[in-house]
Amino acid sequence: MKHTSKIDLENIETVGKLAAQKACAIIRKHYKQRDFVTSMKGESDLVTTADLASEAAIKKIIRQHFPLHQILAEESDHSVDPRKGEVWIIDPIDGTTNFAHGFPVFAVSIAFVSKGKILFGVIAHPLWKETYTAVSGKGAYCNGEKISVSSTKKLSQALLATGFPYDRKESDENNMAAFVRFELRSRCVRRPGSAATDLAQVACGRFDGFWEPGLHPWDVAAGILLVEEAGGKVTDYEGKKIKDFWNRQIVASNKKLHRVMLDTIAETRKKPLKSKNFL
Ligand code: IPD
Repeated sequence: MKHTSKIDLENIETVGKLAAQKACAIIRKHYKQRDFVTSMKGESDLVTTADLASEAAIKKIIRQHFPLHQILAEESDHSVDPRKGEVWIIDPIDGTTNFAHGFPVFAVSIAFVSKGKILFGVIAHPLWKETYTAVSGKGAYCNGEKISVSSTKKLSQALLATGFPYDRKESDENNMAAFVRFELRSRCVRRPGSAATDLAQVACGRFDGFWEPGLHPWDVAAGILLVEEAGGKVTDYEGKKIKDFWNRQIVASNKKLHRVMLDTIAETRKKPLKSKNFL
């Protein structure tokens, strides 16, 4: 692997996958040994020493190979703008709450973005041993096998996924009204607790669609590319392409369900279920 400041996507993919594998090994060890310390970042937002160890290992590998690239990572400085220059976007454990409670749904998510365009993404599951990868224009893969989104056309036959933001008690953008409507109009809605995992499941056709407010660049960057490269569609709640990774709205689908998902979300935003009425 060469040290270079030019964009060599093969090299980016090799290093990104290597970093994800290293992070998975660290996470697996801590998960099995239960030897990590958990602390709070907010009222319900957890961080563990395993998140920090995973992030440090990923950053070390990226810096060794690409010393000129910038890094935006969940547990570090958030001032890096992914729309400028070459930026790696890292979630060292997406699904930290699941990880800390011993629920085996969490993933490492790493994306490489150049001037706001996502060129590479990897989402790796330390326990499922599934690694999803996508390179811009080259399709999406799980463990090297090509994947594609589902062909479900009707919302009533769709299996969807979502999640709820950490500020759900304070904000009326709490996703409750949308959850109720989708749960009643689709086949079912799942809330696995790892947005990166949810997006990877849309990419491989297990979920037909996913939406969530309040997410951050590290939760979604790799997953956006995976869904698009698998033939799906990803937008904000207005149906616009996500250009600002901090926009905190995402709808990802198999394309066929996109319009109905946007319309359903729009209905619920006119009449939210206010958090204060349920506390
Ligand atoms: C969280 C997960 C969860 C979503 C939260 C995210 P984290 O990421 O993706 O599914 O509902 O909003 O913050 O904090 O575990 O990396």
